[in-house]
Parts: sequence; C-alpha cells; structure tokens
Amino acid sequence: MSRELESGQRKILWVRAHMPVQRAIAARFREEQPFREHRIGMSLHLEAKTAALAVTLREGGAMLYVIESNPLATQDDVAAALAETDGITVTARRGVSEPEHKEHIERLLDTDPTLIVEDGGEVVARIAERGAPRSPSLVGLSEETTTGVEQLASLQSEGKLSIPAIAVNSARMKHLLDNRYGTGQSTWDAIMRATNLLIAGKTAAIVGYGWCGKGLAIRARGLGARVVVCEVDEIKAVEALMEGFAVAPLDRALEQADFVVTATGRPGIIAEPEIAHLKEGAVLANAGHFAFEIDRNALATKSVAMRKVREDVDAYDLPSGKTVYLLGKGELVNLSVADGHPVEIMDISFGLQALSLEHLAKHHASLEARVHPVPDEIERTVARIVLSMLSSPSQ
Ligand code: NAI
Repeated sequence: MSRELESGQRKILWVRAHMPVQRAIAARFREEQPFREHRIGMSLHLEAKTAALAVTLREGGAMLYVIESNPLATQDDVAAALAETDGITVTARRGVSEPEHKEHIERLLDTDPTLIVEDGGEVVARIAERGAPRSPSLVGLSEETTTGVEQLASLQSEGKLSIPAIAVNSARMKHLLDNRYGTGQSTWDAIMRATNLLIAGKTAAIVGYGWCGKGLAIRARGLGARVVVCEVDEIKAVEALMEGFAVAPLDRALEQADFVVTATGRPGIIAEPEIAHLKEGAVLANAGHFAFEIDRNALATKSVAMRKVREDVDAYDLPSGKTVYLLGKGELVNLSVADGHPVEIMDISFGLQALSLEHLAKHHASLEARVHPVPDEIERTVARIVLSMLSSPSQ
C-alpha cells in the first residue's frame, strides 16, 4: 500500500473513532438503506471528516461522486483513501485551478445526481445557469455554509431555484457551534501552525463579527491577544464592545494589528486602499468561504517583491519598506493550511447533513422548490446524541 493511501486511511479511521453522531447514523443507515437508488453529488472540503460523511452516506446505500469545494481545501491522501471505497468516485486534488474546479462541477452534474450536498453554493449556481433539463434526476440539495445559503436565497428570489434545498448552515446546531467554535479554534490552529508565532501580547484585528468572527475573537482573547473588531453592522459592533473587545474602523485597526483575520463573506475587504495601512510584519489570514476577502492580486501589484518564506506563508515587500505575510494564498485558512474544524464539531454538522439528505430522499415529493430549514426534529436528534456522549463519564 502506498504511504499516501496509508496516511489517508489512518486519518479517516482517527476521525471516525471520534464521531459518535456519524457512527450512530451510519448504524441505522446500514439497516434502513435510505439512499438505495440514490446518486449523491458531494462538493465539500475533502479532508478526513468529509470522507467520514461520504462513508456514512455510502453505508446508507448511496453511490457518491465527490469533488472539492475550494482549490486548496483537499487533502490528497484522504482523497486517495476515499477513492478506494467501492461505490465512491473521487475527482479532487489539492491546488486545482479555477477552470479545473469548474470542470469538476460539470462532471459532477453529468453523473445526473439525485441529491447534492455542497459548501459554498457554486454547484447550485451552475445548475441554475445550465437549466433544469441538464439535471433531470435531481430531487434536492443541502448546503453547508453562510455564503452558500446566501446564494440559495438569491436564486430563490430570482425564481431560479428548481429544487427543494435545505439550509444546513441556518440550523442552530450548525452556526452556533461550527461557525463559532469550529472556525474560532481551527483558524488560530492554522495561523499558529503556519507561522509558529506567539499570539499572546499581540494585536489581532477580526474583520466581520458574525458567527465566525465571534469565535475568532473569543479564541484570540483566550490566546492572550488584544482583540480589535471591525464590523459594518453597528448593532453587532456594540455587541463586540459589550463582550469587552475594542471596536475600530478598519484602517485604524490595521495600523495596530499583528494578525488580521477576515470573516465577512464579502470581496475586497483588504484591497489596495487597506494595504497602505498594514503594520510592519502583519500576518493576513482569511476565514471566509472564498479567497476574495484579501485581494492577493492587489497585494502583488502593490509590492516590490514577493517570496515564499515558509510552507503556506508568502511575504510581500511593500514600497514603504514594510513586509506583510499572507497565509494559504488567502484561501480559507483553517482548511487550506490546517485540518479544518475539530472532529467533534464536524460530527455535528455532518450529522445534520446526513439526516437532511435522508429527509430530502424521503420527502422531496412533498417539498416545494425553495429553501427549507433543517427540521427541528433533526436538530434535536443530533443534540440528543451529542448530549448522551458528553454526559457519559465512560465515553
Ligand atoms: P455572518 O453573516 O454571520 O457574518 C459576517 C459578518 O461580516 C456580518 O456581521 C457582516 O455585517 C460583516 N461584514 C460584512 N462586510 C463587512 C465589512 N466590509 N467590514 C466588516 N464587517 C463586514 O457570516 P458567518 O457565518 O460568520 O460566515 C462568514 C464567512 O465565513 C462566510 O463566507 C461563510 O461561508 C464562511 N465560513 C467559513 C468557515 C470556515 O471553516 N472557515 C465556517 C463557516 C462559515
């Protein structure tokens, strides 16, 4: 067996051993086979927890076609190990170009999936462009993240959503935990792994105080940083203030920040005008879904030189004489540089995904072609499994 394959298999075994929700759901799925006759197209960050979800769905009888959802968020060893599973086809590789990623979306749609699970809304946007006849068997879709749920809402308002879609991100068991504690821990894990720098005593600017931003801010404080929040929604800015964080306009925050972390879901947050305000040595990282929050093209054009200084760290020398550092090419840092959210967090999020897909498989005929919430009973089922594990002293 190749070392890559062995490493991928070990990673999947480790996470499955720590995913009680997946194990409980998979045991029932093996009995009931809810996805018999279903082809599931999966476009998620392909690391070990995602592989565990794929295995759960396979155990429920599905055939799967798996692609990446972001260019740098695939772990090749995990992709190789997952591809060994009978009934699962994997077309994903770390570092795919934008055209290759688009080609993978086309290939996924060409398999004529009955269900789709995705992260970021790119597949559903492509379905709307291609038109209904190109995906004749599709009966439902479930979406993982804030950016994708925003995409679904905009397609629905334009009358272009042709299938029922479940907004998993909108479930309380998802955004309260995954976006907040998952992004909070894993983003700082990624920043520390990439840089090996101390956080304590430094200033961290958190741009966007939504669910992810809240987690980034509390974990930065826990690591000993002085936290400055930049938020355009004044009510959320007041909330940050009441939490004890400093709140400042972006340009003022950038002048003090040793670490700048974006989590807004909006493009061009750190673009040409902002670059001039960056402090010497500032480390820039993005936790938002797309790599457009920190404008790396603007960084490149504003710089006199650019070089790779560590794995996943690029230095940009600015004409002012300052040097700033961009992590993971501005892709979402916790997945492009580290292993993504902690295992237990993804166990919950993917528990919601597995049960939402089952709900779509069973009830699609009675569901309207619009965005649906995760049914309350599904959230409570997952919460009960989590509680039973956490409250058991022998766990
Ligand atoms: P959210 O909607 O709760 O928060 C975004 C916040 O950014 C809002 O409070 C908004 O007012 C603020 N904002 C927008 N433009 C701004 C600007 N110019 N300056 C300052 N603040 C601004 O969204 P959430 O759930 O926090 O997600 C944020 C992004 O992170 C999305 O792209 C989402 O898909 C992604 N995400 C990434 C994860 C990861 O693993 N890295 C996990 C979950 C979500």
